[in-house]
Amino acid sequence: MKGLILAGGSGRRLRPLTHTSAKQLVPIANKPILHYVVEDLAGVGVTDLGIIVGDTAEEIRASVGDGSRWGASVTYIEQSAPLGLAHAVVEAGGFLGDEPFVMYLGDNMFEDSLEAVVEGFVEESRASARLLLSRVDDPGSFGVAELDDDGAICRLVEKPNDPRSDLALVGVYLFGPAIHEAVRSIEPSVRGELEITDAISWLLDRGDTVEHHLLEGWWIDTGKKDPLLECNRLVLDDVVLDVAGSVDEASVIEGMVAVEVGAEIASSTLVGPVVVAAGARIANSRVGPYVSVGADCVITEATVDHAVLMDSSRVTGGTHLSDSVLGRCSEVSGDGSTSLLLGDHSVVELGD
Ligand code: DAU
Repeated sequence: MKGLILAGGSGRRLRPLTHTSAKQLVPIANKPILHYVVEDLAGVGVTDLGIIVGDTAEEIRASVGDGSRWGASVTYIEQSAPLGLAHAVVEAGGFLGDEPFVMYLGDNMFEDSLEAVVEGFVEESRASARLLLSRVDDPGSFGVAELDDDGAICRLVEKPNDPRSDLALVGVYLFGPAIHEAVRSIEPSVRGELEITDAISWLLDRGDTVEHHLLEGWWIDTGKKDPLLECNRLVLDDVVLDVAGSVDEASVIEGMVAVEVGAEIASSTLVGPVVVAAGARIANSRVGPYVSVGADCVITEATVDHAVLMDSSRVTGGTHLSDSVLGRCSEVSGDGSTSLLLGDHSVVELGD
C-alpha cells in the first residue's frame, strides 16, 4: 500500500503564520505535524510515500527530505494549484498507479493506532474506500457522514450548514483504484474545489462499498489556532520528566518537564507539561503548563502558559502570554496579559 500525504493548500485559517511557512510544519511539542504523519505511516509499513506540495514546497522538502530518517522513500508531487483534495489525487495519479493507498491530510493528528485503521483493507476488503469518522461538536466545519439504519454510510456532505449527524470525516482515507475514476468524474464545488467528499459520494451512488471506522481517541484538524493549541496540550500530556539541560538551584521543576541539552533555566518555575528545546534560555519566569518552547527561544521576566513558541521567539519584560502561537523570531515584550497568533518576525510591545 502506498501513502499520499497532502501538504499543499493555502493555510488561510492560520494566517499570518502561514504567510511565511507551511501549516503542516507548525511544531506540536517541538516536532512538526508533518513528521508525526510520516512517522505514523512508516510505523505501519507504508513507506512508499508521495507528498503533495504547493507554494511551500521548498520548506517541506527541507524538513522531510527523502524520508530515509523514517525508513521511507518520499516522492514530491507539485500540485499545479490548490484546487481541492480530489484534485490532488488526480495530480498524484502517476505516482499512485493502481495500488491501494492511504491518503493522510498533513495537518491532521489523531490518537488511535493507524494499524487498526489499515488492518485487512488490502488483503480482505472489497471496499473501494474506508473512511475514518469521529464524533464532533461542530460538524458543520468538516465533511459529515450520515449512516443508514444498518449503520452503513449512505450520504456524505462537505461542511453542511445544517448537519444531520455529528460524524465528521477525519483526514485519513483508504482508497482502492476505483477512486481514480471518481475524482475524474466530479465537478468543482461552490468553493471551487474538487472535493474528495464528492468523489466518495460518486462511488456510493454507483453502488460501491464504502466502509468506515469510528475513532475512539482524540482527533484534531490543526488548521486553526485553538485546535492547534488543543493538539499541543494533548501531545504534551504524554511528556515524561527528562531534564538534560542546565537548571540552576533557584529554579523549580514541577510535573512532567523535558529540557534538552543546551537549554538553560535560571531562577524560574517550570510547571509541566512543558518541553524546552536546545538553545532556549528561560530566566526569572514562570512557564507552563502546556508550553512548547522551541530552539533558541528566550523567555525572561515573563509568564507563559498554553502556548507554542516557535524557534528563536522571545517573550520578555513583564509579559503574561496565554493561549498563543508565536512564529519564528517573533517578539512580545512589556507589561500586560495577552493571547496572540503571530507570524514569523512579528514584534508586539505591550503597555505604555
Ligand atoms: O480535516 C478533515 C477535513 O479535511 C474533512 O472533514 C473534510 O471533509 C475535508 O474536505 C478537509 O477539509 P478542510 O477544509 O479542513 O481541508 P484543507 O483545505 O484544510 O486541506 C486539508 C489538507 O490538504 C491540508 O494539509 C492542505 C492540503 N491540501 C488542500 C487543498 C485544498 C492540498 O494539499 N491541496 C489542496 O488543493
